[in-house]
Amino acid sequence: MQVHTYDAIVVGAGGAGLMAALHASRQVKTAVISKLYPTRSHTGTAQGGIGAALGNVEEDHWEWHAFDTVKGSDYLADQDAVEVLAREAIENVIELEHMGLPFNRTADGRIDQRRFGGHTRNFGEAPVKRACYAADRTGHMIMQTLYQQCIKNNVTFYDEYFVLDLIVEDNICRGVVAVCIDTGELHVFHSKAVLFATGGCGKMWKITSNAHSLTGEGFAIPYRRGIPLEDMEFYQFHPTGMYRLGILLTEAIRGEGGVFRNNEGERFMERYAPTLKDLASRDVCSRAIYLEIRAGRGINGKDYVYLDATHLPKERIEKSLADIADFVRTYWGIDPAKDPMPVQPTAHYAMGGIPTDLNAQVVVDERNTPLVGFYAAGECACVSVHGANRLGTNSLVDLVVFGRRGGRAMAEFCQQTDLAPLPKEPEGWALAELERLRGSSGKERAADIRSALQQTMMDHVSVFRENAGLETALDAIKELQERYRHLHIDDRGRRFNTEILEAFELGSLLDLAEVTTTAALARTESRGAHWREDFPKRDDVNWLKHSLAYRKNGEIVLKYKPVTITQWQPKERVY
Ligand code: FUM
Repeated sequence: MQVHTYDAIVVGAGGAGLMAALHASRQVKTAVISKLYPTRSHTGTAQGGIGAALGNVEEDHWEWHAFDTVKGSDYLADQDAVEVLAREAIENVIELEHMGLPFNRTADGRIDQRRFGGHTRNFGEAPVKRACYAADRTGHMIMQTLYQQCIKNNVTFYDEYFVLDLIVEDNICRGVVAVCIDTGELHVFHSKAVLFATGGCGKMWKITSNAHSLTGEGFAIPYRRGIPLEDMEFYQFHPTGMYRLGILLTEAIRGEGGVFRNNEGERFMERYAPTLKDLASRDVCSRAIYLEIRAGRGINGKDYVYLDATHLPKERIEKSLADIADFVRTYWGIDPAKDPMPVQPTAHYAMGGIPTDLNAQVVVDERNTPLVGFYAAGECACVSVHGANRLGTNSLVDLVVFGRRGGRAMAEFCQQTDLAPLPKEPEGWALAELERLRGSSGKERAADIRSALQQTMMDHVSVFRENAGLETALDAIKELQERYRHLHIDDRGRRFNTEILEAFELGSLLDLAEVTTTAALARTESRGAHWREDFPKRDDVNWLKHSLAYRKNGEIVLKYKPVTITQWQPKERVY
């Protein structure tokens, strides 16, 4: 086993990880560990834009951006964090521009901006152009830009190393344990600070926009070490996944003028959201699609509707939405300028995650007690700026704003602190778990358990939820966890043993599904993406609070903490 020593370790090489590493590495010795080659990270699939109130095309103000974020969150977001997000979005976008990010430009050379769901002027009056974009490859461009900067800044990368455990003793984080996927060897990374930026966990669901690697161990590893997960009941379904495939078709299509239609050709969002129509928030659009399908107005009686861009100029589609035009040509052989696109809601984004403060430092209880040396940013973290429902483009804002804050905070902390010693056998748990999996000779196949889990979550823990369905799901997850104890592993080797690592990933998905479902069952109200058919009203008296799910002696314990409100008292959401 090899031991490496750094000041700061970043786990995950998407936008949040790279931003954190870049800023930390300007002051302290920093390494990034990634289970993928860095530029394959999922930020690269973010399409439509990054929100910032630059006001380049239409008047805009960070306070309007903050208000939209709070309203979109159904008032569950912490407003101090939202203010930071909206204010610092502006300087972060300019910083990316100065690093060389090739944004689309206005005729006079400024960063161009377009419409997106829930982005409004003057506190909800009408849509505003706030999304800064690089065609429909905004995330890809952010990641390439940041990766180049990290290389230039001598960040060390451990590519294709899979983190298995977090080393914590006496409330001090001391590093991580990882396996080198190539050799199968364990490595201990000993550091003063660790930042998790491991992305999401969309592979819990059957239809998802998330890549195969989004299996949530970045949430599950700290959870197993006693760190709570916040607001896990809030999971966003993006309304425009490619039918049956789940692959994202960006909201920017609607920003450019695309509309939903049902089997009668009706532009049905006019009924559900008379002001914002097809640009209403994602939770509103996803529910509307499900309701149309339930009412028998899905296309050809099936479980999808059309996203229609056929009235837009072909050149506009090919120029500003080039990737999605390619996707639908490749997968379906259709031309978006001539044919409507079949879409269904797709599991997209975890609003909840590892609780942090405004500098991305992880906090472990209702009193926001920090865990020394441990940070988190991006989708695996919950600061919380998204509350019950994230606004489109705010994931990219979140990861650059809080990635940068986390990187800077880690660097400052590392400069002021000594390296805490490693505990005895820091690799003990990871080694035992890998060997347990390697030796598994039961009858169960990981692929079967994963498919059953994804179907269960799709059926009962998706856009609409209710008590009986959630209980059914919880029973099914417990049964799957039991089956998971009796896996059969064929590959006993060490090199590139993806069978064992996929089994490890499945263990994380099962744990997170249990947390998500338990928290959803407990929350007897409807708010944002968490829609309970048996409790269809938002209940601010009892539920204007964040959930914290802890694992204690193998059981889930739920606690709650208050929402931070600064400027905007909860109001009914009107669209
Ligand atoms: O629709 C999209 O382009 C997705 C953006 C986002 O999730 O923020």
